[in-house]
Amino acid sequence: MSVLGYVFESPNPRVSSVFSEAPLPLGEYVSMKFKDPRGGGFITALAIVSNSGYRLAVPTSFLRYIGREGSGGVEPPKLSPIALYVIAEVLEGGFPEPPRYPVPPDTPVEPASAGLLESVYGLGGVVRIGGLAPRKLGVEVRVNPDKLAKHLFIAGATGSGKSNLVAILADRLSAIGAPVLIFDVHGEYNIMPEDGDTSKVILVQAKINPLKMSPRVISTIIIPEPAARRQRRQLAVAIKTLNSNIIGVVRKEKTSPDRVIEMMASQHEIEIEEAEDLGREELLAEYYKELLIKTVKINAHTSDEKKRADTIIDKVEEFFERTPVTITGEQPTKHVRPGTITVVDVSALDDEQKRWILKVIVDELLVKLKEGETPIVLVVEEAPLFLGIELGHPVKTTLQKFAREGRKFGGCLIIVSQRPRSLDINVVSQLQNFAFLRMVQEEDVKAVMNIADNLDQSLANIIPTLPDGRAIIMGEWAGRFPALVDIDLHKGKKVGATPPLTKIWSEMREKEKMGKEERVVFSVE
Ligand SMILES: Nc1ncnc2c1ncn2[C@@H]1O[C@H](COP(=O)(O)OP(=O)(O)OP(=O)(O)O)[C@@H](O)[C@H]1O
Ligand SMILES: [Mg+2]
Repeated sequence: MSVLGYVFESPNPRVSSVFSEAPLPLGEYVSMKFKDPRGGGFITALAIVSNSGYRLAVPTSFLRYIGREGSGGVEPPKLSPIALYVIAEVLEGGFPEPPRYPVPPDTPVEPASAGLLESVYGLGGVVRIGGLAPRKLGVEVRVNPDKLAKHLFIAGATGSGKSNLVAILADRLSAIGAPVLIFDVHGEYNIMPEDGDTSKVILVQAKINPLKMSPRVISTIIIPEPAARRQRRQLAVAIKTLNSNIIGVVRKEKTSPDRVIEMMASQHEIEIEEAEDLGREELLAEYYKELLIKTVKINAHTSDEKKRADTIIDKVEEFFERTPVTITGEQPTKHVRPGTITVVDVSALDDEQKRWILKVIVDELLVKLKEGETPIVLVVEEAPLFLGIELGHPVKTTLQKFAREGRKFGGCLIIVSQRPRSLDINVVSQLQNFAFLRMVQEEDVKAVMNIADNLDQSLANIIPTLPDGRAIIMGEWAGRFPALVDIDLHKGKKVGATPPLTKIWSEMREKEKMGKEERVVFSVE
């Protein structure tokens, strides 16, 4: 083994400073073997290069000053001070443990062998996500999906590889049977699964169907305030009445719900302002809303009920204004099945609608989980939109609830963000597994150190220099020790990649030229 340098001092078992002849690349795995201070055996420490510098051993100007410059024709030697973050120590023939002994001065530093890396990381899980960095080490990294009930936080700057990691996880978790739902804020997850089976990916409309939801759930979504129990119950009864009226006629007349709603709207002489500007779907939603409001009014008998009706109607109006509703379509959650990836494309909606739709979906998933359905993996990108510090939207509380209760009922929340600094720490602190990709802004690195208490400053030091697709993974899903991973590149996820502008432009120009020449030729003829 080649010696890369020697330990100079180790202020504690986690950190060693080393002098080397030349700088070592940040994030490289190295090892140090030293005598067990208590026994006869040897301990091998596995560490990662967390800082790397370069300087003259003695300043040339100083040599000049003391009149020794160039004495004997020798150049002053250069040296490289290096900081190491110690990940684990392995006692000969034993299991890896967190470091307990500081590495003694003068211990040689060597490249980490594949054998050592295997013994530290080889006990991991069942789902492959990539290889230890750099890939040429040939050591596979597998995560433990059982631990995902403690959720996952993926953070990284634009283009650092977050969506690629999501695609890898979605594909490989669904391959072992997990139902995965991706809340697709940018419309970028029309992925081709690695096994080529496109039937596993279900693209759905981001709309909700009040006829296909339980009245209890939809009334909870419309009136979430815990104290408003009576209002909520009154609304649930109204929804139940209206829905069973509609379904009753559908059955009797052997027709469809949309026809029945149109019929009922004309019976009740419901007029919609500017109805001619609305599409049929939107018009039906308006009819349903008006019918619901009528039902709330008709059902209110006592003076208390009448008083509550006004507040309920306000809430109903607000909900229908904010949430895309369908009468003819399926609920997004309807498609969620083991072994499939349901992609809910919300890219066409405004931010407020995105929040409401996500809230509805998460509420529904929670109800389903509590009723004993298969544990689900829910991916939410653009976290600041839903979990921003300043945001006072019910979706935040709902996600928090999903994180808290999902742990009991088996809901895995994957939150993805490129701006961790703007997230509400109260919610994000519920996420206890991590993947940190490149982040350049100091505030963001600080924020993730705040969120992941185990992320040491010296390890966080390498975050700004991580190449695309390289991540520090931590938490129980990653095993006992943080690992530096080159995430596999998902072959079937093309959207989201930076377009090769130069190539496109030059091709376009060629086409444009050809077009002109053709036109010229044509006009001559
Ligand atoms: N694991 C990887 N291995 C190799 N290249 C990768 C990897 N992950 C990402 N890349 C490269 O980086 C590009 C951007 O990746 P990705 O779309 O996942 O970034 P992102 O973090 O989601 O960015 P944004 O914040 O803009 O959505 C990819 O198109 C690919 O070229
Ligand atoms: Mg992305």
